[in-house]
Amino acid sequence: MSVLVTGGLGYIGSHTCVELMNSGAEVVVVDNLYNCKKSSYDRIKALVGKDFKFYECDIRDAEGMSEIFEKESIDSVIHFAGLKAVGESVEKPLEYFDNNVNGTLVLLDVMRKHGCKKIVFSSSATVYGMNNVSPLTEDMEVGGVTNPYGRTKYMIECILKDLYVSDNAWSICLLRYFNPIGAHKSGTMGEDPNGIPNNLMPYITQVAIKKREFLNVWGDDYDTPDGTGVRDYIHVVDLALGHLKAVEKVEGENGLFIYNLGTGTGYSVLDVVKAFEKASGQEIPYKIGPRRAGDIATCYSEPSKALNELGWKAERGIEEMCEDSWRWQSQNPNGYPD
Ligand code: NAD
Ligand code: UFG
Repeated sequence: MSVLVTGGLGYIGSHTCVELMNSGAEVVVVDNLYNCKKSSYDRIKALVGKDFKFYECDIRDAEGMSEIFEKESIDSVIHFAGLKAVGESVEKPLEYFDNNVNGTLVLLDVMRKHGCKKIVFSSSATVYGMNNVSPLTEDMEVGGVTNPYGRTKYMIECILKDLYVSDNAWSICLLRYFNPIGAHKSGTMGEDPNGIPNNLMPYITQVAIKKREFLNVWGDDYDTPDGTGVRDYIHVVDLALGHLKAVEKVEGENGLFIYNLGTGTGYSVLDVVKAFEKASGQEIPYKIGPRRAGDIATCYSEPSKALNELGWKAERGIEEMCEDSWRWQSQNPNGYPD
């Protein structure tokens, strides 16, 4: 089995490439290096102990992508490539629609021209919007999204659903991720955000290594047990393993499949701070700030559909997520080398 992984040198893509190759699959990576370092390739290679193909190419480059499909024999695609910063998407909507939506259209057209009709897509819990009540199930109405990033995910889901209706020789799996954190056990791969982290765990780890003075907790007046936001954090390796099951699914049968990838358990911001302090032995000073625009109180999954249909379940708990995030950050205070 040969899998083309777009965005395969990024945070989730790199962990997925390791698990794919460990399971015996051939991997071909396409990444334009916009949000990753080339050294991520070397780290993946060192972990799996073998070479794999990497093309520095933008998924919007139809000619470049066609050449890759001509050179390689690709059975299926896992499509991670995209821009993902919610705040930035409000500032730069055109860039987000172009990269995420247009990029996906170019990719799908190239796939169709080369007779490759199996794709696993990185969607997000953000498509459930502000109005659904957790636990979130796959059959809930989606689309009440409040920012351009979320809208790109929703639009791509719509495009993929319409594509399947038009031609059911396609096999399409939409994976709705909850909040991926953690890192590879080796401490050699992890999340390496540019600039000031937007997301909770990379911010906490940067406070722990004293790069930042304290954590801003965005609001403590939500209707949650301690007033801070509750999310469904999932270990990135569990998420990666979910992709192996999803690829098997699209390889095995045609259809349009949708799965939540989460643990089904919600933790508050302060729960995560406490778990991290315990796992790392580092104190995390924090200050309570105002609510962050666009945030909701609670978001966690009902993960049983993925268990019933894919035989996949998240196995790693919050302690392990914190230990692994800390190992990565403390061993790589400046992230991946240039
Ligand atoms: P990431 O930024 O670490 O990885 C994305 C990779 O795609 C990067 O290496 C980047 O260089 C590459 N890329 C971006 N645009 C490209 C283009 N036009 N052509 C080729 N390569 C391109 O992000 P991640 O956290 O690994 O997320 C992967 C996917 O999962 C994204 O689509 C993201 O929206 C989605 N997702 C992420 C989260 C999360 O919290 N991390 C949650 C839900 C969904
Ligand atoms: N938070 C803080 N301080 C910070 C950062 C976050 O208190 O410095 C809080 C947030 O208010 C929220 C929780 O920590 O309550 C988690 O926030 P994140 O920014 O880590 O994650 P979100 O749930 O807001 O969003 C993430 C991704 C989205 C994705 C969504 C669901 O950023 O792209 O998970 O998958 F859509």
